[in-house]
Amino acid sequence: MSYIARDDRPADKAERYAEVEDEILAVLEGEPNLTARMATVASMLSDAFPAFFWTGFYVVDQAKGNELMVGPYQGTLGCLRIPFTRGVCGAAARTGETQIVEDVDAFPGHIACDSRSASEIVVPVRDGSGALIAVLDVDATEKAVFDAVDAQALERLMARVFAT
Ligand code: SME
Repeated sequence: MSYIARDDRPADKAERYAEVEDEILAVLEGEPNLTARMATVASMLSDAFPAFFWTGFYVVDQAKGNELMVGPYQGTLGCLRIPFTRGVCGAAARTGETQIVEDVDAFPGHIACDSRSASEIVVPVRDGSGALIAVLDVDATEKAVFDAVDAQALERLMARVFAT
């Protein structure tokens, strides 16, 4: 399948997610490699949503077990490692629950990799056996960019891309 970046996407957020989800799944068909899958998701999500300032994965360091290390992403320099005990990413990894933060300055322990990040969503990523393998972290420079629509769409996308 050929993929051309475009700016005529639906204005409705849920519709835009549905469209890009179909495109991501089409591009990834037959590609088993996890790094290739994560890099493609980060690229295509980032391209589809101009408000996404940092879009990417923190992968569970299997050697340490309770630490995340940076994976494929689009955006400015991210922290390399995040312990499960720290930040929004750590909270998502520790609890297994999606975290929506409307104002990162109000989140205790938020890690400011780039001070331009103002709000974020972090979604746990599981493999087919249900084991946590990573978190998807999306940051925006505006406050309160993410809501339940983003949570539902991104959780569904992570399930369809990584838990099959
Ligand atoms: N916002 C994250 C840190 C990672 S970056 O912003 C790329 C957190 O507090 O978990």
